[in-house]
Amino acid sequence: MWLLTASVLLAVASLVAGGRSPHADYVEELVRANSFGSRFSNNIYEDARLNVPDLIRKYGYPVQSHNVRTSDGYILQMFRIPHGRDQNNVPGVKKPVVFLMHGLFASSADWVLMGPGNAFGYLLAEEGYDVWMGNARGSTYSRRHIRLNPDSKINKSFWHFSWDEIGNIDLPAMINYALAASGQKKLHYIGHSQGTTVFFVMGSLRPEFNNKILSMHAFGPVAYMAHNKSPLLNAIAPHVNNIEKIVSFIGTGEFFGNTSVSTWFGDTFCRDGTSTQSMCSNMIFLITGRNEEQFNATMLPVIMGHYPAGAAARQLVHYGQSIAGREFRRYDHGWMRNMVTYGTRRPPRYNLGNIKIPTFLHYTYNDPLSQAEDVTRLHEELGAGVKMLVPHPLFNHIDFMWAIDAKELLYDRVLDLMRSVEE
Ligand SMILES: *[C@@H]1O[C@H](CO)[C@@H](O)[C@H](O)[C@H]1NC(C)=O
Ligand SMILES: *[C@@H]1O[C@H](CO)[C@@H](O)[C@H](O)[C@H]1NC(C)=O
Ligand SMILES: *[C@@H]1O[C@H](CO)[C@@H](O)[C@H](O)[C@H]1NC(C)=O
Repeated sequence: MWLLTASVLLAVASLVAGGRSPHADYVEELVRANSFGSRFSNNIYEDARLNVPDLIRKYGYPVQSHNVRTSDGYILQMFRIPHGRDQNNVPGVKKPVVFLMHGLFASSADWVLMGPGNAFGYLLAEEGYDVWMGNARGSTYSRRHIRLNPDSKINKSFWHFSWDEIGNIDLPAMINYALAASGQKKLHYIGHSQGTTVFFVMGSLRPEFNNKILSMHAFGPVAYMAHNKSPLLNAIAPHVNNIEKIVSFIGTGEFFGNTSVSTWFGDTFCRDGTSTQSMCSNMIFLITGRNEEQFNATMLPVIMGHYPAGAAARQLVHYGQSIAGREFRRYDHGWMRNMVTYGTRRPPRYNLGNIKIPTFLHYTYNDPLSQAEDVTRLHEELGAGVKMLVPHPLFNHIDFMWAIDAKELLYDRVLDLMRSVEE
């Protein structure tokens, strides 16, 4: 979500820059790196161009890739870090499973970008967890369907989904798969931003999943959005119903699915030593809240190499509906299609009371997208919710993923909570 503004600026910048090949510098750098004899160098900037499995391999962790087919034909990719770097799998010993779900315009890269010692994906593996990372339909690693073509300009059906389908169809498919493959009956769920929204959707519509989740940790929880403080989202909220029309008129219904411009932009303008680096940070803070103290600007080119990871316009529209309507409802197709789809003129509200899972809402006072008032309402309606304030006054929407001290401020506490429900 936060990359929306950034991406608009990037698109403009790329036009101004006049079509310079984004990959020119990279080829040279990789050749130099390889001349040291290993496949990957320890150059951090190279991480901008590595995909998630290659990133994980680069840092010496085991990784598996799994394809899951949904009931409506999407092929989703999940990545698994089955154990820590210097551990071996002991046959017959089942590790507890944790499932990680990324936010809007993001992908599973979120959980590994900051590298070993920092990124939660690696920390969880070192702590003895079997780590599964989901990728929502339409994002970089899940742009496939058995029949529909995501790039078709004629039939744009591939992109006709919002986060309702991600929660109602993708999550159940991925969670069932991870449980079957690991031989476990239950898992822990950790989501960031839209990764929390889709969990609340699943829990409301598919209460049978209450029995499959040990605990849920919501980083920057997003369900109610009446108090949303993101200037950009608030500006578009009144126009949501036109956005999808515009996006599918000029393209396919996909929003920001190509990282080549932002990768180039990050490399050119956001590296250490460039005079424009603070502009890059400011672009991000505009959407996520400002916290210079916890943001490692050195990592900007790596972050920009993996964003934006693509989404359907409807995901954005559905959030716009949540802001404008001040409720947490299913996607509003307009009253005629609502009658067909839901049997009512207005889309039904998600019934959060169906969720009986221990749900920990990790929130802060400096997150424009997850305001304390909205978190309080969510907390009141959940069956078993606990509010947990992150103990840092300026913690913002991306600090959940990337804060320099995320481990001390958040992850250690989450690990304690996970262990407490395992016993
Ligand atoms: C697009 O393809 C789907 C699935 O094959 C089909 O149901 C739909 O009618 C097609 N839409 C158009 C506009 O051709
Ligand atoms: C992204 O856009 C660039 C430039 O328009 C193009 O060369 C490249 O193939 C695109 N990448 C993908 C994955 O679509
Ligand atoms: C910021 O990231 C760079 C590159 O990964 C790393 O060398 C540095 O230690 C990080 N800074 C802090 C304060 O963690």
